[in-house]
Amino acid sequence: MTARASVAVPEEVSAPTPELGRPEPCTLIIFGAGDLLHRKLMPSLFHLMGDGLLPDEFAVVTVAREGLDDETFRARVADALKTFLPNGTVLDPQAWSRFKQHLHYVSGELGDPATYDTLRERLAETDARLPGGSGRLFYLAIPPSLYVQAINRLAESGIAPRVPDPKQRPWVRIIIEKPFGRSLGSAGALNACVRRAFAEHQVYRIDHYLGKETVQNLLVFRFANSIFEPVCNRQHVHHVQITVAESVGVEHRGKYYEEAGVVRDMFQNHLLQLLTMVAMEPPVTFSADAVRDEKVKVLRAIRPVTPAVMHDYSVRGQYGPGVINGKPVPGYRSEPNVAPDSGTATYCAIRFMIDNWRWHDVPFYLRSGKRMPRRVSEIAIQFRKPPHMMFPLPEDHVIEPNTLAIRVQPKEGISLRFEVKMPGVDVTMAPVDMDFSYAEAFGELDHDAYETLLIDCMLGDATLFTRSDEVEAAWSVVDPIIDYWANKYPDHFPNYPAGSWGPAVADEFIAREGAKWREP
Ligand code: BG6
Repeated sequence: MTARASVAVPEEVSAPTPELGRPEPCTLIIFGAGDLLHRKLMPSLFHLMGDGLLPDEFAVVTVAREGLDDETFRARVADALKTFLPNGTVLDPQAWSRFKQHLHYVSGELGDPATYDTLRERLAETDARLPGGSGRLFYLAIPPSLYVQAINRLAESGIAPRVPDPKQRPWVRIIIEKPFGRSLGSAGALNACVRRAFAEHQVYRIDHYLGKETVQNLLVFRFANSIFEPVCNRQHVHHVQITVAESVGVEHRGKYYEEAGVVRDMFQNHLLQLLTMVAMEPPVTFSADAVRDEKVKVLRAIRPVTPAVMHDYSVRGQYGPGVINGKPVPGYRSEPNVAPDSGTATYCAIRFMIDNWRWHDVPFYLRSGKRMPRRVSEIAIQFRKPPHMMFPLPEDHVIEPNTLAIRVQPKEGISLRFEVKMPGVDVTMAPVDMDFSYAEAFGELDHDAYETLLIDCMLGDATLFTRSDEVEAAWSVVDPIIDYWANKYPDHFPNYPAGSWGPAVADEFIAREGAKWREP
């Protein structure tokens, strides 16, 4: 996403107006050579290079513990590309031999100052091959427990200097992966550490949901059309449902997930980001800070959930054994590195109320769970029913509400449901969908969210990244919910079988307000 204008905001929070077009030459320094690097970052960089979107001159230096040389590391990346390039893309030998020349490897412990001396030497070598003044982009693809150490060591080493002026060259930026903290307190402490080392405009806190095409399209859909915005408010909307369902379980991430649980893993970041994009007011300009200012306002307007009313606002669940796509799968408690009596929630549904003029009294139901029947993310805006029905309908006839459904993934698109008269001599109605499909209109989407985010960061566009106040505001929203449930051991877990749409309590929960979960 490229913003073209910016408003004056204090230096500490301001994001610069990005350069347009192709990124300037730069070196990407990735800390960590784990899953993220192999599954996401390398395939994204490879694809970007193939599409001619990377700068002509760039280098990637990976810093990780294992004692590898460049060639062995490159061979591993080649294997990863063969496995993780999307839609079974075959690794083109010519493209690979162009790509691999850009890859370098530095081995060392992140806590050891000597690692940074070696890195400095390698960067001097890569700098010599790039034009003077090339940018440096650091990427923390390491466990969150190592962030502070890596940031402190980087700052001490002088390799990643604080650059107060966003226009100063060469630029230095840092991408920090989620989770950013595990509570308001720890996110605040991490922000303080980051702030000691970098100016806010240098910091890119990533939430890959914001890089998804359909999520970016929310801004265009809402603010480049004039017919939807006037009806998206408390006068017309009955409620909003945001679903992020996954068919996968926790896989090999049991250790992390036991500590995180679904609210930290999905709500604090992805789901609240979707909510802010749907609920925010039109930003004054399309600049990073104008957009993020509006998102922060939404987060701050969310009604705090107190322990006394917690059961009216949230329910949770954990999957037991079940069947997905015809195959039996184990329950959460039998996954590797998960306690046999674990109380960790793998499903949660939360009602958020946004106390402002536009949304007062309109419930936003957010739900997310693992091991649901399908992988599907959707935002559904459900409108009020007509106040008076003049048609003589049978008593048991249920009129479906108008629904605007934004399919985030898969089958990306937007549909609008409305009632029509069925052909015939009498008046009989049926709901139909008017549908826009990305694939039909533009072909399959073939850019991963990480591609957009990497390029945006190289261009200095922070619109799709989370600002420090935003990340803290999101933690303030979920902290009371996490804390409340942390003290209540769930005797009733597991309470939904893998392959179902969640626990029965979630259906009762939404029914209390006269609503029903959509089956996306
Ligand atoms: C990650 C979570 O942030 O998002 C995972 O840690 C989750 O638990 C993933 O599976 C979902 O991302 P996507 O893009 O597949 O919807």
